[in-house]
Amino acid sequence: MHYKKRTHTCGELRVSDIGKAVTLTGWVDTRRDLGGVVFIDLRDRYGKTQVVFNPQRNQKVHDLAGELRSEYVILVSGKVERRPAGTENPNLATGEIDIMADELTILNKADTPPFPIEDEVNVYEEARLQYRYLDLRRSPMQRNLITRHKMYLITREYFDELGFIEVETPVLMKSTPEGARDYLVPSRIHRGKFFALPQSPQTYKQILMVAGLDRYFQIVKCFRDEDLRADRQPEFTQIDVEMSFVDEDDVQKVVEELMARLFKEIKGIDIPTPFPRLTYKEAMETYGSDKPDTRFELKLTNINHVIQDSGFRVFSETVKKGGVVAGLVAPHCASYTRNQLDNLTDYTKSLGAGGLVWMRVMDGSIETPGEKFLGKETVNIILEEMQAKPGDLILLISETWMKAYTILGTLRLEMAKRLNLIDESKQAFVWITDFPMFEHDETEKRYVAVHHPFTSPKLEDLHLLDSEPLKARARAYDLVLNGNEIAGGSIRIYDRGLQSKVFNLLGIDDEQAKKKFGFMLDAFRYGAPPHGGIAFGFDRICMLLCGEKSIRDVIAFPKTTSAMSLMDDSPSEVDAKQLKELHIKIV
Ligand code: AMO
Repeated sequence: MHYKKRTHTCGELRVSDIGKAVTLTGWVDTRRDLGGVVFIDLRDRYGKTQVVFNPQRNQKVHDLAGELRSEYVILVSGKVERRPAGTENPNLATGEIDIMADELTILNKADTPPFPIEDEVNVYEEARLQYRYLDLRRSPMQRNLITRHKMYLITREYFDELGFIEVETPVLMKSTPEGARDYLVPSRIHRGKFFALPQSPQTYKQILMVAGLDRYFQIVKCFRDEDLRADRQPEFTQIDVEMSFVDEDDVQKVVEELMARLFKEIKGIDIPTPFPRLTYKEAMETYGSDKPDTRFELKLTNINHVIQDSGFRVFSETVKKGGVVAGLVAPHCASYTRNQLDNLTDYTKSLGAGGLVWMRVMDGSIETPGEKFLGKETVNIILEEMQAKPGDLILLISETWMKAYTILGTLRLEMAKRLNLIDESKQAFVWITDFPMFEHDETEKRYVAVHHPFTSPKLEDLHLLDSEPLKARARAYDLVLNGNEIAGGSIRIYDRGLQSKVFNLLGIDDEQAKKKFGFMLDAFRYGAPPHGGIAFGFDRICMLLCGEKSIRDVIAFPKTTSAMSLMDDSPSEVDAKQLKELHIKIV
C-alpha cells in the first residue's frame, strides 16, 4: 500500500480518545461549508465521524477538502477534539468529538450516485437492485446482512452442540420433485443429458440417514423455478435438517429451541416453548389458512347446522351439496355504509366468491339483505354462535369447503389490516400438523403430494390409501410465524413397499420410480432407519428478525420478481460456441 493505514474505524472514537492523533478512511457522507470551514461526515460500516477542515489550521488541506463530493473515498489524519458545547450530536456514537484534519488523501473519486446513501431512500427497488453496491452501503442493509451473519453463527453453534454435523450435498444433481420447476444444467460431456439444481437436498439427506449419519444439518442454497413473490426467490437458503430414530416431537423440539435461541440472541426476546399446535383442519376452519397469522383473533365460525334447514336457499343448498356456510365478525363495523359494504362484496368476489352476505348487528335486531328468508329465531342463533354484539358486522360466505375457508382467510387478513388488529410486536409461532397426504390436481387430473412423495402417511390412515387417499393424513408439519410459513418437514417413509405404493398413487409407476428415484429405493434396501426432518426458510426467518417485508432486503444480491438480476443483467445470452458445445439449439 502506498498510503497510510487507518488507526480507527469511523464508529470508534469517543471522548476518551481526545488528544490522540488518528487516521480514518471511508466514504464522504456529507460535506458542508460553514463560514469558510469545511465539515465532512466520514462513513464506513462501523459508523460516521465528523472531520473539520479549518483553513487556519491547514490552508492546503482545507482547499483540497473543497473538492470532496459525496462518496469520494478518502484518508484523513488529524487530532481528536471535543466538539464545542452545544454542537454535540446525540444521535451519533461519535457525536461528542470531531477530527481536526491535518492531512487529506483522496483515494478515489466517485460519480454522483443515482440515489443518496441514506437510511430512508425514496427510490424504485429496480434502481436499488441495479446499483446494489450502493444500496448495500446504506446502514439498514448492512444491519440486515450482519443479522444474517449472526444467524449463520448461532445456527451452526446450536446444531453442533446437539451433535448434528453439517454435510454439503451436490449442487449438480438429479432432479427431485418438490413441486416447482427445476433449473436445468445441460451436460457438455453427456449429450442430451441434464443436471438439475436442487429444489432441496431432500433425497441426499435421507440417504445420509441410510449412511448412518444420524443427525445432519446444512445451510444450503436451493433453486426453484416458480412464480415469485415478496417471500419467494428462485434461489433461496434453507437450514436443512434430518434425524434418525425420531418422531414428530423430536424434530419439533429441536426446531423450537433453535427459534427461541435465534430470537433471544438476535432480538433479546424470550420465546415461550413448546409452540401451540393446530391440525391443518383446525387451522383452515378457524383461520382460513394453513399458515394462519395468530397474532389476532377474528376467528371463523361455521354455521352449517344453524342454517341447513332455513328458508335462505343460497345457504341451505350449499349445505345440502356438502359445502360450507361460515364467516367472521368484524367488530364495530355495523356502521359500514352501503358503499363500503358493496366495496367489501366486490373484494370478496375478486377472491372468487359467488357473493358475500353481510349482517349489521343492531340492538335487538339485524339488518341484512336475506333477513326475511332467515327468520328471527335463526338470526338469533347465528348471533349467538358467532358471539356477535350490537355494533358488529357479520360477514358470511357459502361455498365449497376449500373455497369458503380460503376466501374467508384472505378476508380475515384484509379486515385485520383495515381494523388495525395486528400487534406488530407479537411473535406468534404455531405448528400446523396432520396435512392431507394428497390433493387432486384438476389440470393434471391426478393426485399430487401436498408435502413431497417421501412423506409418511399417519399409520392409522394407512388403510385409506386404498379406499379414500384424499382423506389420508400425512406425518407432515409446517412451522408458521405471524402468517409466514417459515419451515416445513415430515417423518419419512422408510419402507420400500409403502414408498412404491405412494409413488403409484402419485401416478409414478414402478418403472418411472426406478428411473427417477432408483438410487434412493436401492439405498433403502440396505437398512434405512426410521427418520424425519425439516427445512427452514432461512431468508424468511431473517426477514422477520430484521422486521423487513421482503426477503430481497435480507439477500445481498437478489433477483427481481421476474427472476432477473438487474446488477449483472442475468440471465443473458451466451455465445453460439457455448451452445454448440452443449448441443443446444435455440428455437
Ligand atoms: P419446503 O418446500 O416446505 O420443504 O421448503 C422449506 C421452507 O423453505 C422456504 N421456501 C422458500 N423461501 C424462499 N423462496 C422460495 N422460493 C422458497 N420455497 C420454500 C419456506 C419453506 O417452509 N425438503 C423439504 C423439507 C423437508 O421435508 O425436510 C422442503 O424443501 O420457508
